[in-house]
Amino acid sequence: MSFQIALDGPAGAGKSTVAKAVAAELQFIYIDTGAMYRAMGLYFDAQGVDVNDEAAINAAVDGAQVTIAHMDGAQHIFLNGEDVTTAVRAEKAGMLASKTSAYGSVRRKLTSMQQEIAAVQNIVMDGRDIGTAVLPNAPLKIYLTATVEERARRRFLDLKEKGVDADIKVIAADIEQRDYQDMHREIAPLCQAEDAVFLDSSDMTAEQVVAKIVALAKERMN
Ligand code: DC
Repeated sequence: MSFQIALDGPAGAGKSTVAKAVAAELQFIYIDTGAMYRAMGLYFDAQGVDVNDEAAINAAVDGAQVTIAHMDGAQHIFLNGEDVTTAVRAEKAGMLASKTSAYGSVRRKLTSMQQEIAAVQNIVMDGRDIGTAVLPNAPLKIYLTATVEERARRRFLDLKEKGVDADIKVIAADIEQRDYQDMHREIAPLCQAEDAVFLDSSDMTAEQVVAKIVALAKERMN
């Protein structure tokens, strides 16, 4: 039997940093479901599909093949055979994903893929609906959040380190818009699963969050 850790939370809460470290420590596979939605968003954009037109999205959805492979421990994401691991990180891909992930046809496609992946191996899966919709029976669910100000500050420092000029107010507004869209869509909106452990990382280091999750996982694996 495989063991799953479902890690949900809003944009910029540090989910991927934490999930990667937890997976490395427990020797689990890390699955970044946001990257899958981002790849779908890039696909619709490249096809010239209007992201506000659900019928057009439904007609296009089967043309996208999203696959995941792990190379040297890192997740690579492919869209119709092309490695889009770097392309999906663009700000624009995040916004496209937030918009197009609201559609049932997109969610059904990726949810079943995610369930198949999780059935056969020990995984840490991060996203918005993992504990509530994708893996409702996961033995460990975490809801990781932080204040908007703290999430914007972290994102700003990240970009600064990469030499990218950014305006912290614009970042905060973008985060708030994504939060709103992700929490208010009809299907599988972002919310804390009833049986999820709530962690606010505003005043915690990534190491502290990782240690807490690893300890909980070890407890529940026994
Ligand atoms: O985690 P991220 O920023 O890479 O996610 C990008 C968008 O994809 C996010 O704003 C909403 C959507 N998403 C989703 O709807 N369900 C998931 N499990 C993961 C991401």
